[in-house]
Amino acid sequence: MTTERGPQIAASILTADFGHLDRVVRKLERAGVDRLHLDVMDGHFVPNLTFGPDVVAAFRRLTDLPLDLHLMVDEPDRYLGRFLASAPATVTFHIEAGGGPDPVRAVLRAIREGGAGAGLALNPGTPIEAAAPFIDDLDLVMVMTVEPGFGGQRFISAAAPKMRAAAELFAAAGRAGTVHVDGGVNRETAELAGAWGAEVCVVGSALFQRGRDASDEVEIVRQRAARGRLAGPPAGPVNGSAPGRERH
Ligand code: DX5
Ligand code: ZN
Repeated sequence: MTTERGPQIAASILTADFGHLDRVVRKLERAGVDRLHLDVMDGHFVPNLTFGPDVVAAFRRLTDLPLDLHLMVDEPDRYLGRFLASAPATVTFHIEAGGGPDPVRAVLRAIREGGAGAGLALNPGTPIEAAAPFIDDLDLVMVMTVEPGFGGQRFISAAAPKMRAAAELFAAAGRAGTVHVDGGVNRETAELAGAWGAEVCVVGSALFQRGRDASDEVEIVRQRAARGRLAGPPAGPVNGSAPGRERH
């Protein structure tokens, strides 16, 4: 998933101007993002609401970029067919919402049968071991470095080592899976994200800052993440407070 240019950048439009999504998409395409990351929230699994399958379909009409659907919803199977109708590249849901091993596995398989890559997202406090039983049905693991629900939060560095653990799980199973990192990734945190093995960096609010050019942010995040990947993880104890404590 990483290209010769470095880790991929998936743009999250959560903090974009929803009144002008066509312009937002053009701007992101011009800025050189690799993928669009669409955050679907239901007001139950997370205390926020965004959009559903019809808006995802609108994005599909607006762009040929690969769409990564990040479902922050209870009952992830409920509207799955309608989401899959937009031919997303991947569909990721939260293991915390899955309702037990059998339903989780069934949804992962339904995603794949629908032609998309299947992913599980893990909240900052959820250990990587929770994903292990599903490794054969997974194409990606999304490590959350914020509590899901809102853009613009601070990167929880204590959750970052799970990226390396996820890559090790895929390797041990002999599977080619991709590691996404989602939450608080920007020019300050990209190197650490890369160091722990991020292959797809989800970048939201950093692309929509007043007075900063989105193309510059894409390149800087990509380069710093690539530099981090080369350098590897920092030595010593992980620097950061307990998962879930750094909400800003
Ligand atoms: C949080 C979302 C993220 C987030 C990314 O619930 O899943 O995709 O919007 O935005 P930033 O980069 O601002 O954390
Ligand atoms: Zn997301």
